[in-house]
Amino acid sequence: MVESMSTDQAARLNREAWDSFRRQRDEGLVGGRRDVVERLVEGGSFLSVHHRELVGDVHGKRLLDLGCGDGGELISWARLGAQVVGVDNSPRQLTVARRAAEAVGIGAEQCRLVLADLLAVPEGLLRGDFDVAFSSGVLSWIGDLDRWFAAVSRALKPHGVFVLGAVHPLALYYRERERGAQDWHSYFDQGPFTEQLDATHRWNPAGDAVTTVQWMHTLGHVITSVAQAGFRVSRLLELPDEAEVYGVTGGPGEFLLRAIKV
Ligand SMILES: C[S@@+](CC[C@H](N)C(=O)[O-])C[C@H]1O[C@@H](n2cnc3c(N)ncnc32)[C@H](O)[C@@H]1O
Repeated sequence: MVESMSTDQAARLNREAWDSFRRQRDEGLVGGRRDVVERLVEGGSFLSVHHRELVGDVHGKRLLDLGCGDGGELISWARLGAQVVGVDNSPRQLTVARRAAEAVGIGAEQCRLVLADLLAVPEGLLRGDFDVAFSSGVLSWIGDLDRWFAAVSRALKPHGVFVLGAVHPLALYYRERERGAQDWHSYFDQGPFTEQLDATHRWNPAGDAVTTVQWMHTLGHVITSVAQAGFRVSRLLELPDEAEVYGVTGGPGEFLLRAIKV
C-alpha cells in the first residue's frame, strides 16, 4: 500500500495502464473479454436485465456514462434512445468507443465522448441537465468517492437517477486474499493498492511497464458517500457470483446501487 499516492498520480498511471490493455487487446494479444464493435454490430447489448430495471426507460433522456471505456454500455443505452455522453480518461478506450458508435450508425449528435479524469469532469457537464448518471466497473479505480459523487450530483437534474455497478468489495477481498496478495489482508484496508503487472499477467502479455492503482471501498463507505453527496439510496442489489469468477461459493460477485438526487 502506498499512503502518499495522489489521485492525480493514480489517474495518470491508470490511464497508461488502460491504454496499454486496450492496445494489447486491439492487437489480439489479449483474449477477448469482448469485442465491442463486433458484438454491437451483431445487435448485442452490454446491459444486463438489472441495469435496465434500475435505470428504467431511457428513451429521449440524457445519460452520462462515467468511465465508459470502450463504449459497450454507453452505445447500448444510445440504442435504447438515450442521448449519451461518455467520459473516460483513456484515449485508446474512447477511440474504440467512437469506432463502435460509427459502426452501428450512432452519430456524434447522439453520442458525445469526453476525454477527462472522473475527478476533474469539465464544468460544462456539471450543469444539472442529465436525467441519468451510470457507471459500471470503475469504482475501484477512483480514490476520492466524496469528490466523485459530488460531481455526479451536480451533473444530474433534481430527482435524477444514479446507477453504480461494481465488483462487490467482499468478492474483491476474497479474490485478492485467495491469490495471496500481500496487502489486501483486511476488508477494511481501502488502499490505494499499487501493482506492477509483468508479462505473466493475463492483460499484459507484451510486458509493458504497467502499474495500476486501485482502492477497495467498503460497501459502507460507498453508500455513506453517495448519501452525503445528496442522494437517497433506493436499491442495493447484491448479485451472487454465479460463475464463481471471484472464487467464493455462495458469495457475492457484484453490486448495483440505485440512488435518486434529492
Ligand atoms: C473496467 S473498465 C470499465 C469500462 C466500462 N464502463 C465497462 O463496464 O466495460 C474501467 C474504465 O475506467 C476508466 N478509468 C479509470 N480511472 C479513471 C479516471 N480517473 N478517470 C476517467 N476514467 C477512468 C478506464 O480508462 C477504463 O476505461
